[in-house]
Amino acid sequence: MEKERDLVLIVDDNPTNIDLLISTLTKDYRLGVAINGPKALEYVAKQKPDIILLDIMMPGMSGFEVCSRLKSDPETSDIPIIFITAVDDVSRKIKGFELGAVDYITKPFLAEEVRERVRTHLDLKSMREQLTDRNVDLEQMVSEKTVELEKLLDATISTITLMAETRDPYTTGHMNRVANLACAIAKHMGLSKERIRAVELAGILHDIGKIRIPTSVMNRPGRLLETERELLKIHPEIGYKLLERIPFTIPVADIVLQHHERMDGSGYPAGLKGEEILLEARILAVADATEAQSSYRPYRPALGIDVALEDISKNSGILYDPKVVEACLTLFGQGLFSFDEDNRVRDPGHIQ
Ligand SMILES: [Fe+2]
Ligand SMILES: [Fe+2]
Repeated sequence: MEKERDLVLIVDDNPTNIDLLISTLTKDYRLGVAINGPKALEYVAKQKPDIILLDIMMPGMSGFEVCSRLKSDPETSDIPIIFITAVDDVSRKIKGFELGAVDYITKPFLAEEVRERVRTHLDLKSMREQLTDRNVDLEQMVSEKTVELEKLLDATISTITLMAETRDPYTTGHMNRVANLACAIAKHMGLSKERIRAVELAGILHDIGKIRIPTSVMNRPGRLLETERELLKIHPEIGYKLLERIPFTIPVADIVLQHHERMDGSGYPAGLKGEEILLEARILAVADATEAQSSYRPYRPALGIDVALEDISKNSGILYDPKVVEACLTLFGQGLFSFDEDNRVRDPGHIQ
């Protein structure tokens, strides 16, 4: 479909000027005419022109005032305005530009100049509109792709956890509960949305490295031998290696790697201390310890949440970050969080 011709509004109180402009532009454009400021505003309210040729000196409302009003209204602020002014009226021309006009046409008119200026500014307007449309399209595409990527990431994580669950359902239950508590702590501590998401993902995956530990070790009742305990200690590094290639925008693999580091440097694998450990990993450590201690173990019944909280409280500042411990105690103390009772007794994991 052929594009409708652009609409030019001529605003001038002088009939001779109006006639001249009409005869100059009528071949190429649709034209509207207003003989004073209020009529111009009335016209624009009904039908939005593509460009306005606006006389400055008019009785009653001046062209400047009309321009100011149009520019202050978001509905009309993007209409290009070309002022009509006398040749030597420099100060008025400057004021016109300050008010947002794009150009001026000097009287007496030169038909060719009027046509060229109008055409140039209509072309510029059309290019601006195309750019805006393109930007809107691009923003839409980016947000659609982001949603797609998030879905893909969720599906990848589900697949990984499903694989782990097939082999060892207990660890998966533990990881989900740890993720829930770690998220609640992160939220309570006021972490950003992105960091809470990192804590959540790292929580869901934190013990994924256990898929390299023989099931005979993982699920055997009774206390583990020293050699078996040492073997289990490789799981954060295995987890890191499994996750490092997934292009997360957040440091999920590093958080997993550090979830057994302890504040006093007694943890593993690197023996990091205090703030050398990522805050997300310090949060995960407290959630992990709380969940593991309150749960059933093959060699003992579930100790219960009170015993678990007493332990993290006793080790606050030694093994665990005091601020994280405080947040965890508050969540349980004020009844803001609890583990799913049904799940808790099913977890026989030997190690947090
Ligand atoms: Fe672990
Ligand atoms: Fe764990």
